[in-house]
Amino acid sequence: MIRRLVVNGRARELDVLPHQTLLEVLRDTLGIFEVKEGCGEGVCGACTVLLEGRPVSSCLVLALAVRGRAILTVRGLEGEGGLHPLQEAFVKSGAVQCGFCTPGLIVAVADLLQRDPHPTEHVVREALSGNLCRCTGYQKILDAVRLAQERMAEASS
Ligand code: FES
Ligand code: FES
Repeated sequence: MIRRLVVNGRARELDVLPHQTLLEVLRDTLGIFEVKEGCGEGVCGACTVLLEGRPVSSCLVLALAVRGRAILTVRGLEGEGGLHPLQEAFVKSGAVQCGFCTPGLIVAVADLLQRDPHPTEHVVREALSGNLCRCTGYQKILDAVRLAQERMAEASS
């Protein structure tokens, strides 16, 4: 079935099979490899994208169910001026090591800071509890979120 997906603001027409997940279509059909495949069963968060602004595990979503809806990957956060402050904060804080978890984590944090620009550490930990990282021990990720909060607050003042 030919369906239209809107990924990072760009409409894409593609053939989607009834059993295909959003993750499969993004990676295998559209070549959007910044969306990572980890567990394939909704546990690791590596495949997280924003669907109409809210985080979803794309391995658990059927591609047919999202036709016409806005999908945002980590690449879609970049502006014309370059990296999003959140992306810069992850790099600067050493929160990107192997990088496998990073695209999913960054879009999950983007959603959190959109809803709550000044979350407590407890709230950040809770919001990111579905995104597993095997490298950083999480402290550098928490540092990155705090740095991004500061930079985003400065930019909006
Ligand atoms: S690959 Fe989707 S949650 Fe792990
Ligand atoms: S940086 Fe390697 S899994 Fe998180």
